[in-house]
Amino acid sequence: MHATSRPLPVFGHDEDRNGEQHRLLSLALDPLTTERLALTGIGPGWRCLEVGAGNGGVAAWLARRVAPAGSVLATDIRPPARPPDVAGLELVRHDIVRDPLPEAEFDLVHARLVLRLLPERLAVLDRLVRALKPGGVLQLDEFDATDAPALRVPDPAAHRLYRTFMETKAQIMDGEEVDMAWGRKAGAAMSRAGLTEVSSYHRFEVWSAGSPGLQLVSHHTRHLREKFIRAGMTGRQLADVRDLLAHPVFRARSYAIYSVQGRRPREGRGAPIASTCPPPPRTSTPRWRASTGPPARNSIRSWPNSSASASPRSTAARSACRCTRGRRWKREKARNAWTRSHPGRAALCSPARSARPSDSPRP
Ligand SMILES: C[S@@+](CC[C@H](N)C(=O)[O-])C[C@H]1O[C@@H](n2cnc3c(N)ncnc32)[C@H](O)[C@@H]1O
Repeated sequence: MHATSRPLPVFGHDEDRNGEQHRLLSLALDPLTTERLALTGIGPGWRCLEVGAGNGGVAAWLARRVAPAGSVLATDIRPPARPPDVAGLELVRHDIVRDPLPEAEFDLVHARLVLRLLPERLAVLDRLVRALKPGGVLQLDEFDATDAPALRVPDPAAHRLYRTFMETKAQIMDGEEVDMAWGRKAGAAMSRAGLTEVSSYHRFEVWSAGSPGLQLVSHHTRHLREKFIRAGMTGRQLADVRDLLAHPVFRARSYAIYSVQGRRPREGRGAPIASTCPPPPRTSTPRWRASTGPPARNSIRSWPNSSASASPRSTAARSACRCTRGRRWKREKARNAWTRSHPGRAALCSPARSARPSDSPRP
């Protein structure tokens, strides 16, 4: 396996703690994530990239949607020990900041709660945009975790305890360069990175005892215990926080979850995607070879050995693209007109694309 020297971010190395965190994230967020992904028109034959895949649940959902001809490459700096066993899904160990990434390769790129963790998030965003084929779609699902107040508490002391806990957590995250407000900034950053049709959706929930959201918060009293203690909280206080979160009266407003989509402009339309950041240092030879077919089931490989496709488009492909540019532009114009006349629908979902999977955002 490819060994990366990069230290892991705030949530550390512990497999059990990370496994539980990913299980709870799936419970809390997979319904929203997959509902939004479905709006892109994803279907058979698409080539997808899932970055920071966690337990691989979303990657498995993508692989089922694109089967039988499509495929999903799922990456994580620390892939799960037992990845989902789904045909067409390949999981690789890969650092999205430092390891090579093919360009113009994917119809759809998705990352959830990854960029907020990375100080290099804008450079990474740039790389994700360039990994898209022209016309391909990027979806980022991210928290704005700056404010999640208690709404109902059993007594005033509980109110203070919860506030202390959440403020200490924000302080820990801040110290590790996690951007707690990244969710609300993601849309503007995606536009600046050259994406068009950027559409943002966000939602709050009310958390109560037993909800996946509060289970996650409760899990953090253990997952980040050492960091809370270093930041001044006691073991007793952390135990009290767990009791409070399990109290039948307790209610809190959730973090805001943002789900933002944007499209890489098709060739010949809009400004070319320009890198706003210097390329990251390369850790291995960036030679991408043509894919030899769908990946085997249940595989974890290190990235540089994977069979990612060549990024440069052939001369023939480029001239074919120039010939069809006029027709594409007309199709795009019709789609934009439809979107304007259906303001309630997401910009990335058009009847043409849902009805005809072959009219996918591929070049
Ligand atoms: C908060 S978890 C989210 C997991 C999953 N996306 C989800 O929402 O369930 C962040 C994930 O990003 C991965 N990660 C962190 N830094 C990374 C990096 N530099 N490159 C790739 N993955 C990274 C972690 O290993 C972890 O699986």
